[in-house]
Amino acid sequence: MKRTLFKTGDGSYTLHIPEWDEQYHSKHGAIAEALHVFIKEGLYHWFSENLATTVSMLEIGFGTGLNAFLTYLETEKNSFTVHYTGVEAYPLELAEVEKLNYPSLLNASEEIFLQMHRAPWEEIYGISEKFHLKKQRQFFSEISSENCFNLIYFDAFGIRVQPELWTEEIFGKMYTALKPNGVLVTYAANGNARRAMQAVGFKVERLPGPPGKKEMLRATKK
Ligand SMILES: C[S@@+](CC[C@H](N)C(=O)[O-])C[C@H]1O[C@@H](n2cnc3c(N)ncnc32)[C@H](O)[C@@H]1O
Repeated sequence: MKRTLFKTGDGSYTLHIPEWDEQYHSKHGAIAEALHVFIKEGLYHWFSENLATTVSMLEIGFGTGLNAFLTYLETEKNSFTVHYTGVEAYPLELAEVEKLNYPSLLNASEEIFLQMHRAPWEEIYGISEKFHLKKQRQFFSEISSENCFNLIYFDAFGIRVQPELWTEEIFGKMYTALKPNGVLVTYAANGNARRAMQAVGFKVERLPGPPGKKEMLRATKK
């Protein structure tokens, strides 16, 4: 499917899919959305609830690598270690990645960002001592992990274009993949998605959303 570069409200780029009229991130700000939904309400929330120095996490849709990069940057400022698994069925071309302006806007290493994309698939790759990346090239429906992760960044395309990913079937897999007290965060606030999460056992909270969005969801495995 064709992808074009799109500048979002905070100046950071995202990719636009003309065929679906869908973006990889919010039009109101790709970095702003990721920092709010995944870093603040996901990563930091999990550490605030758990006395831990290591987090094992899964990303649903590695895509541009923005969430992985932002998470890596947090390990540079803190003493925790991250084991990061990113699942992706349709990896970007390196030429697309090179056009993204995340390292320059974040005043961070472009080399590390590119390393994340060049890293081999299906292997654990040490981006740094505190950030270990494993990229898995597979469909979300093929995920069969059990009791493996503390945190899930659920960053699939929206329910309008991929309704099959916001179902009890997929959230059941997410629930199984999480450890007890594990947390899933997503930018979405859709009622059907929320009910599907609740149906598989999650306790779901509606939280204030990122710029341009009233709400987002956080689900906890109790
Ligand atoms: C909304 S984008 C977000 C990507 C990423 N989190 C980012 O920040 O760029 C969703 C991602 O899911 C991937 N994807 C879509 N359907 C998939 C499927 N069924 N299985 C695996 N990956 C899929 C897309 O290729 C895309 O990279």
